[in-house]
Amino acid sequence: MSDLQTLRTNTLAAVQAASTLESLDEVRVSALGKKGAITALMKTMGKMEPEARKAFGQEANLVKDEIASALDQRKIELEEAALDEQLAREIVDVTQPARPTAKGSIHPISQVMDEAIAIFGEMGFAVAEGPEIETDKYCFDDLNIPTDHPARQMQDTFYMHGHSGDAGSLVLRTHTSPVQVRTMLIQEPPIRIICPGRTFRSDYDATHTPMFHQIEGLVIDETAHMGHLKGVLMDFLAAYFEVDEVKIQLRPSYFPFTEPSAEVDIGYEVVNGELKIGQGDKWMEILGCGMVNSRVLENCGIDSSKYQGFAFGMGVERLSMLKYGMPDLRPYFDSDVRWLRHYAFDPLLIPSMVRGLHA
Ligand code: PHE
Repeated sequence: MSDLQTLRTNTLAAVQAASTLESLDEVRVSALGKKGAITALMKTMGKMEPEARKAFGQEANLVKDEIASALDQRKIELEEAALDEQLAREIVDVTQPARPTAKGSIHPISQVMDEAIAIFGEMGFAVAEGPEIETDKYCFDDLNIPTDHPARQMQDTFYMHGHSGDAGSLVLRTHTSPVQVRTMLIQEPPIRIICPGRTFRSDYDATHTPMFHQIEGLVIDETAHMGHLKGVLMDFLAAYFEVDEVKIQLRPSYFPFTEPSAEVDIGYEVVNGELKIGQGDKWMEILGCGMVNSRVLENCGIDSSKYQGFAFGMGVERLSMLKYGMPDLRPYFDSDVRWLRHYAFDPLLIPSMVRGLHA
């Protein structure tokens, strides 16, 4: 066999044997490269007779073309194989169920706040927030709570270190009502907000913890009246306790920041040892409310001859105990995982009036 044919046979075999793109490229360089075998053979043509040179040239070109197309073909095969291997290696079974991972849970307080926000949000209330360390001006003075009011005594209010009730003192807010003040100071009526948040009072027993939560509501416009207040509360309580209708009564009361003021009782009965909220002939106090005192409006720069409105405030712990049946308030903040697991809510189920308030 001629040198050319030997080279052809060996090179084509090497092309087929190449199992990676890198080794294929080495074959290409050693056959067709500048210093490759074919190039070297071509260089020998110069010394040949013209007839022999012509024949050799034609044959060499054929061999060159054949090797080049074998290289291209093998390259495509190797590329396809590499892609297939990569696809097989990176396969994702999209039909596989998500792997169960340990997930956290929602505390009943957060759950009830989210439920309330969902219900009031649907009624058109926005959420407003304020600081937990508050000035006594916003927490008391502007809310028409004079210096000698019992709420300002040390036994209820936590004063910040070095503050003792003088003007300008900083306190842990005893209620969420200062957020009313903050909102009225910066927003023109109409106002329709709820203020969920932490509150603090020096008190501790089965139904009181020093840190607790409230949801305050405030509506200010030119016509809001007690009837609207009662309607909002009835709608809220029915939605929250998930009953068609609730029976409530407004009992005259006193809050410095509302006039007139009322305490709201909700009807209930105990059927086979189970608490049924909404109907029945017994009453239980559930929240405080009233028409915003005109002095508070004026303190907050709102013209009380033009605007009026109502406010209400309720305890989140109490709402959650009644709905979810926790008898004692103290374990709420003990961080006992057994309690937390027992009363856990699913973090992926966000309360909404459309989807439902809870699982
Ligand atoms: N701030 C009152 C409290 O903590 C509750 C309340 C709010 C009452 C708004 C009336 C109106 O007791």
